[in-house]
Amino acid sequence: MTMVFVAPSLVFAIAIASAFVAFPTDAGGGTWQLVQKNIGIVAMHMQLMHNDRVVIFDRTDFGHSNLTLPNGRCRRNPYEKSVKVDCTAHSVEYDVASNTIRALFVQTDVWCSSGSVAPDGRLIQTGGYNDGERTLRIFNPCSTCDWQEFGPGLAARRWYASNHILPDGRQIIIGGKGQFNYEFNPKAKTGADKTTFRLPFLWQTNDPAGVMNNLYPFVFLNVDGNLFIFSNNRSILFDYHNNTVVKTYPEIPGGDPRCYPSTGSAVLLPLNLQASSIQAEVLVCGGAPRGSFQQTIKGNFLGALNTCGRIKITDLNPQWVMERMPGGRVMSDMITLPDGNILIINGAADGTAGWEAGRNPALNPFIYKCNSPAGSRFEVENPSSIPRMYHSTAILLRDGRVLVGGSNPHLPLLKLNSGMISNSSCSSR
Ligand SMILES: *[C@@H]1O[C@H](CO)[C@@H](O)[C@H](O)[C@H]1NC(C)=O
Ligand SMILES: *[C@@H]1O[C@H](CO)[C@@H](O)[C@H](O)[C@H]1NC(C)=O
Ligand SMILES: *[C@@H]1O[C@H](CO)[C@@H](O)[C@H](O)[C@H]1NC(C)=O
Ligand SMILES: *[C@@H]1O[C@H](CO)[C@@H](O)[C@H](O)[C@H]1NC(C)=O
Repeated sequence: MTMVFVAPSLVFAIAIASAFVAFPTDAGGGTWQLVQKNIGIVAMHMQLMHNDRVVIFDRTDFGHSNLTLPNGRCRRNPYEKSVKVDCTAHSVEYDVASNTIRALFVQTDVWCSSGSVAPDGRLIQTGGYNDGERTLRIFNPCSTCDWQEFGPGLAARRWYASNHILPDGRQIIIGGKGQFNYEFNPKAKTGADKTTFRLPFLWQTNDPAGVMNNLYPFVFLNVDGNLFIFSNNRSILFDYHNNTVVKTYPEIPGGDPRCYPSTGSAVLLPLNLQASSIQAEVLVCGGAPRGSFQQTIKGNFLGALNTCGRIKITDLNPQWVMERMPGGRVMSDMITLPDGNILIINGAADGTAGWEAGRNPALNPFIYKCNSPAGSRFEVENPSSIPRMYHSTAILLRDGRVLVGGSNPHLPLLKLNSGMISNSSCSSR
């Protein structure tokens, strides 16, 4: 099930875009509208393409989806964990303009993979699980295009890695479970280039208790050409040309982890291009206290973090400034809206990421007004009626609306239904 959320400040943008979907132009608090009741798969990953279509995909190893692949096509994969002959789709394309769904054929397991869009508009999605852990997948946007897969395209297995597009058009792929290194795509050498580069920061921030907290690190390109990398409770400025740490930032105050499974979220705040020297700021919000994941196994669901840290990464002496959100939130998504404000949406108020590990869905999005005075930056938006917990997503559409989808059904429910994911809703507890 997918919904759109429209922030109140964007009512004007909506009015312009009313040819897409009819909207009530309401007052403050935002508007929710259900755009698709059942897209057939769980929207674990979403990417907007330049042709106004959204590529959506879910893991392949959880049995049949609720959408049959057209033209009698089936995936016959001896390495697949669940269904060896699978005639259902695990990826779809959502056409925003016509509000329709087209089944796509993804052939390897994209579960917790990562990707970025290349300058030519192709989505390059790498890694994942099992048969997909070293796969390179390309989705070239067009009305009939489908996934193309190349394997093994990665030098290392990448599960829960982070990708970022670089100024020269390459993609950097950082980390992943058990991978304290990074690599580039395309590679310097053609053929089977196995080059990876060590990044000790990733094992330094690997939680010794075994729940990592260094997965899906937050990565942003700084205005000086270096990469800001945040993992667990620490961050560095990294020169990927020369494999050197340029700067080590102070640990985030409180020291609690912000990365998977204590999943918070982060954005690079909008840059002021009129300024004589351009400054860059990063905002990190939410997450879960240290030890939270282990507590969920014992049936204790600790309150999620309600703090955000903001830091000017271009400063000579950068310091975190902490702010308090109107509520705690883990597994959130943060989106920069066209008016420059930040939407904090989806997730849970208690627990962590992981199967059955979240409680108390955070139904009200927050808006963070970057330029308002500290202490009056947050605004609580109208709630959704659908919990969006583990494996949920949100992305900005070109008309200013935010498309929201995903959240996995319960694990026992899946077992009961012999692996059938009936629709993409339900994960309330
Ligand atoms: C999808 O779900 C509906 C409703 O439960 C069911 O009637 C239909 O057969 C399902 N389709 C597939 C391909 O699983
Ligand atoms: C990386 O090192 C080279 C010399 O080895 C130097 O010319 C270059 O400026 C460095 N790159 C950056 C971004 O500092
Ligand atoms: C930051 O994270 C590390 C690694 O998990 C941990 O050992 C350290 O205690 C944390 N810092 C604080 C202040 O909690
Ligand atoms: C989703 O599936 C559940 C379980 O089959 C069902 O109860 C619920 O009505 C469905 N929701 C929608 C929106 O189709």
